[in-house]
Amino acid sequence: MKQVYLDNAATTALRPEVIERMTEVLKDNFGNPSSTHSFGRSSKSLLEQCRKNVANHFNVSAAEIIFTSGGTEADNLALRSAVRDLGVTHIITSKIEHHAILHTIEQLQKEYELKLSYVNLDECGLVNYTHLEELIKSNDKTLVSLMHINNEIGNILNLELVGKLCKEHGALFHSDTVQSIGHYKLDLNAVPIDFLAASAHKFHGPKGVGFCFIRKESGLKPLIFGGEQERGYRAGTESIHNIAGLDEALKIAYSNLDEDKAYILELKQHFIQCLKAEIPTVRFNGGCEDKVNSTYTLVNVCLPIEASKAPMLQFQLDLKGIACSKGSACQSGSSQQSHVLSAILDNENLQKPSIRFSFSVFNTKEELDYVIQVLADFVNS
Ligand SMILES: Cc1ncc(COP(=O)(O)O)c(C=O)c1O
Repeated sequence: MKQVYLDNAATTALRPEVIERMTEVLKDNFGNPSSTHSFGRSSKSLLEQCRKNVANHFNVSAAEIIFTSGGTEADNLALRSAVRDLGVTHIITSKIEHHAILHTIEQLQKEYELKLSYVNLDECGLVNYTHLEELIKSNDKTLVSLMHINNEIGNILNLELVGKLCKEHGALFHSDTVQSIGHYKLDLNAVPIDFLAASAHKFHGPKGVGFCFIRKESGLKPLIFGGEQERGYRAGTESIHNIAGLDEALKIAYSNLDEDKAYILELKQHFIQCLKAEIPTVRFNGGCEDKVNSTYTLVNVCLPIEASKAPMLQFQLDLKGIACSKGSACQSGSSQQSHVLSAILDNENLQKPSIRFSFSVFNTKEELDYVIQVLADFVNS
């Protein structure tokens, strides 16, 4: 059966070079990086080289990169410690953040006295920066946590502007950059962000590894206690083959960035144009059609289908070998409505099926044409 993978915001295929590098490390660098003998020293040196490489992409020092088990852990580390150790009493976020943020904040509210503010969004889900500034002006010790790229609708946050506002008003700034690291370059020397979270499996690296950028002298403390790994920030023997895989995937992502970006953007535009031609009443959720404020990697499509036909759509796509997603991967199996779409759509549009298609450099226009035909046949049947 023909198979088309268009769920790259959920996870990406490993690049062959990444598999090769990881296999080598699994064979040749099995020593524990904390051991002092030659096996351990060799793993330690590899680990520190990976850290330096990662740090160099963002123009920060190696000491500011802490490897974690992925994006969720990095988000938890930053949010939890900001409240527990840095005295944060007010968190400003948005209703369309990933659950790694929203559920962590919910839990923190149960444990600490915490004021929570949601920034206003426009009808496309873009942050209202004037309202954000009003919220930041409060006299509380504040942390702003806003994602760079939304994983469901692809909206882009103006990191520079938010960083500047936070700095001006003495607030800390954390950004969930899980959907942007490996897809956008960031100079953290120029952008005042205190903490960010990244995950390797979103840029053709392995699952179960990511990192947290923690700005020097921020005072952040560990989430996981135990040994002295990761300079005491994150106990537990480092997953050295995963870290090497992350390093390799990031290196390739950034060295091919301009070319890959242009290729994927063309796929996205082709998808939008052809879908509109086949299904003129199709709508795109969020700012998907906005060339400045939307990522090149995904579209969220609202199809003009009666509610009674909607449950068949995902089934039909799956039957035709098309992998896409109803919301974030963590919610795909759930019958609950996407919290992101609920925050921005009116009731009428919320009843129509919305599907996220997310692209990678491994996709082709022919694959997209096939998907468009399947969608058009379904809508017109
Ligand atoms: C925006 C965003 N934040 C956090 C995560 C969680 O990352 P991980 O799967 O590495 O824990 C994801 C993954 O779906 C994501 O898309």
